[in-house]
Amino acid sequence: MACFACGASHDVTSLQTVCRQCGMPLRVNVPLPRSTPDELVDQSLASMWRYGPVLPIPVEERISLGEGWTPVWEVEDGIFVKDESGNPTGSFKDRGMSMAVSAARLLGAGRVVAPSAGNAAVALSAYASEAGLRVLVAIPNDTPGAIIDRCGELGAEVQMVEGDISVAGKWLAANRGPDDFDVSTLKEPYRVEGKKTMGYEIFEQFGWQLPEVVIYPTGGGTGLVGMWKAWDEMEAMGWIGTERPRLFCVQSAGCAPIVKAHDEDRDDIEVWPDPMTTAWGLRVPSPIGGFLCLRAIGETNGGAVAIPEMVIHETTEEVSELLGVDFCPEGGAAWAAMNLMRESGEIEIGQRVLVWNTGAGESYR
Ligand SMILES: Cc1ncc(COP(=O)(O)O)c(C=O)c1O
Ligand SMILES: [Zn+2]
Repeated sequence: MACFACGASHDVTSLQTVCRQCGMPLRVNVPLPRSTPDELVDQSLASMWRYGPVLPIPVEERISLGEGWTPVWEVEDGIFVKDESGNPTGSFKDRGMSMAVSAARLLGAGRVVAPSAGNAAVALSAYASEAGLRVLVAIPNDTPGAIIDRCGELGAEVQMVEGDISVAGKWLAANRGPDDFDVSTLKEPYRVEGKKTMGYEIFEQFGWQLPEVVIYPTGGGTGLVGMWKAWDEMEAMGWIGTERPRLFCVQSAGCAPIVKAHDEDRDDIEVWPDPMTTAWGLRVPSPIGGFLCLRAIGETNGGAVAIPEMVIHETTEEVSELLGVDFCPEGGAAWAAMNLMRESGEIEIGQRVLVWNTGAGESYR
């Protein structure tokens, strides 16, 4: 395991959070087999674990509820939706938490803890319960009640915090005990390993090819970083060349630290003051992995788009009705960005465009 920022190496046989030397996110370096996609994928598994040989958890240690391997639909000519609403707890957070909880249990965590804007808390509660681990989640007190209730039903201890996810993170840092293992976004290395299956799945579902454009609603950025890592692994295995889909990061205009940094051509993130969005997963004012998102966007010649709150909510309703897919507001933001890009000519005729609906709208109702 090595630091994404400074390269310092870290022990994989013990629990790790961020880099000991510089405090930045760690990257799990999985030994890559020499196989073709056909040889590598276990077609009998309808979950993200079908990519087992490139995942860092042995079969007998997996904590799985059937996450991933979600459908892709071509909803208009060249426009595809990857729909994560059918995951076990209703969002793509299940991918990361399945992997992180498997690793945490394997490496001897006592209790798992995390701050969350919503869906991650439910996912962590479900996987920790499956693994027999205790769990504490710290949640902003204006998070939808349905999310808080579900965490409680799944056996989690829930701490409400006045403020956004970064305040919740600070509360946890000040209050956690010696047995507690923090699985916060990109402050724990295995969630990205779960999320990278998104990059593999797209490739398989497009017939061992990648689309030209991928549009992703970004909060902490694990999905963006995960797909980017997956494609690098696929290149190292000789599955693809140097070409990549253009990666577009979508945020709410009420909390858009990555878009701002991208527009200003910076390679670091400034804290977004007073983050306001009810696309809860996007309310991340100071993502530790923001510099990686900027790298992924830059290397793929992608971009970053902020969508006004009103447009997010109108679009979410419209597109859910139009397509009969239960869009979450984060997915609605991604769809709105696709509309804008189509109007502005950023998306060209004939290009295949994938829009991520990262979870179910139902979870927030
Ligand atoms: C539904 C939904 N979409 C997108 C995101 C943002 O995810 P990431 O942290 O990978 O950027 C979240 C995070 O909470 C979420 O719940
Ligand atoms: Zn480092």
